[in-house]
Amino acid sequence: MIPFIDLKAQYSALKPDIDLRIQAVLDHGQYIMGPEVAELEARLAAFSGAKHCVTVASGTEALLIALMALDIKPGDEIVTSPFTFAATAEVIALLGAKPVFVDIEPDTCNLDARALARAVGPRTRAIMPVSLYGQPCDMDAINAIADAHRLPVIEDAAQSFGAQYKGRRSCNLSTIGCTSFFPSKPLGCYGDGGALFTNDDAIAQAAREIRVHGQSKRYVHTRVGVGGRMDTLQCAVVLGKLQRFEWELEQRAAIGARYDALIDAAGIDRVKVRPDRSSVFAQYTVFVDDRARVQGELQAAGVPTAVHYPMPLHLQPAYRETSPPALPASESAATRVMSLPMHPDLDHALQRRIVQALVASVRPRTPESDARPAELDAAR
Ligand SMILES: Cc1ncc(COP(=O)(O)O)c(C=O)c1O
Repeated sequence: MIPFIDLKAQYSALKPDIDLRIQAVLDHGQYIMGPEVAELEARLAAFSGAKHCVTVASGTEALLIALMALDIKPGDEIVTSPFTFAATAEVIALLGAKPVFVDIEPDTCNLDARALARAVGPRTRAIMPVSLYGQPCDMDAINAIADAHRLPVIEDAAQSFGAQYKGRRSCNLSTIGCTSFFPSKPLGCYGDGGALFTNDDAIAQAAREIRVHGQSKRYVHTRVGVGGRMDTLQCAVVLGKLQRFEWELEQRAAIGARYDALIDAAGIDRVKVRPDRSSVFAQYTVFVDDRARVQGELQAAGVPTAVHYPMPLHLQPAYRETSPPALPASESAATRVMSLPMHPDLDHALQRRIVQALVASVRPRTPESDARPAELDAAR
C-alpha cells in the first residue's frame, strides 16, 4: 500500500536535526516552557511575517484561545464554514457562542465571501474562515466585510501554514491566524501542538496569559484561562522540521502541479487553487461521483484515499439544531470529495500510479459523456 502521508521518509531525511533537537531537551530538562518554545515562536513569527506567535497545545486550543482573547461570550455569533473539521465550530459552541454556517465556493471548498456578507447580523462578533486543504480563502473580500462591520477575523489555518495569499503568508492575513502541528499537517510535530499569530499586542498578551490559566505572572490570575501550552519537546521537533520546510513547500507545490496536469488531462474534476494564492496541499482533493466504489477500487489497487469531510457540520447531530436547513455547495462537496496521497517525498512514479488507478476507476467527464452517460456507462 502506498502511504497516504509518509512521515517515516521525512524522519529519515531529518533524523540528525530532529534527534539533536530532542536530545538537547532531554539534556536541559525544561520540558515545560523551555528555551525551544521561545525559539520556535520567534522563527515562526519571522516566517509568517506576523509580529507575534504564541505556541499552544493544539490547533483546537489555538482557536479556543483566539476566541477567548477576543472575549467571545455566550449568545455571540461567529460566522464560519460548515465544510471543515469539527474543531472549528466546536470551540465556538464550547464558549456558549453560536456558529453561523455559510456555504462554500464549489470549486475551492472555501467559505464563500458573498454568502458571508448576507450572514453577518447584529449578534455577529467574529468571522472564522477556514483555509481548507491548504489554500487561504478570499481574505481581501472577507476582511473588507469584517472591516465594514468592525469585526475581527480568525483564520483557521490548521491546514495552510506556509501558504501564500497575494504575497503574504497564511496566519498573517487577518486579526488572528491559528494553525495546527498535528503530525499529518504540512508542518507537524510528533504529538499535539499549535500556534496562534497576530499583529495585535493586546491579543498576543491575552493569548499568552490564557494559555497558562489566565496568569499575568505566577499565581496572579488576571483572567479565566486554560492549560494550553505546547510542550518543549514538540517545539523541538518542529524546529528540527523547519530545517527543510522551504524545500517541502516547493515539493508540495511541484507535486500539486503534477497532480493538476495529470488529473486535468484525464478530465477529472478537482479542487481549484486561485491564481492569487498558493496551497500547501495539506490534502490534494478531487471530486468524484460514486465515491465509495472509487475508494474501494483504489484501495484494491494499493492506493489509500480519505474523505475530508463526509458530512458538513450543519447536518451533524451536535450542530443541527441551530443550523440553516440547506447549504447546497457544502452538501454536494461532502458527497464528492476524495483526497489522494500527498506528502513532500511522493515521487513521480508513485504519483503516476495513483492517477492511473484513479483514471481506471473514474469515468472521465467530457461534453460527450455528460450528454450520453447511459451509453458510456454501458461501454465501461
Ligand atoms: C481545519 C482544522 N481546524 C482545526 C483543526 C484542529 O487542530 P488540532 O488537531 O491540532 O487540534 C484541524 C486539524 O485537525 C483542522 O484541519
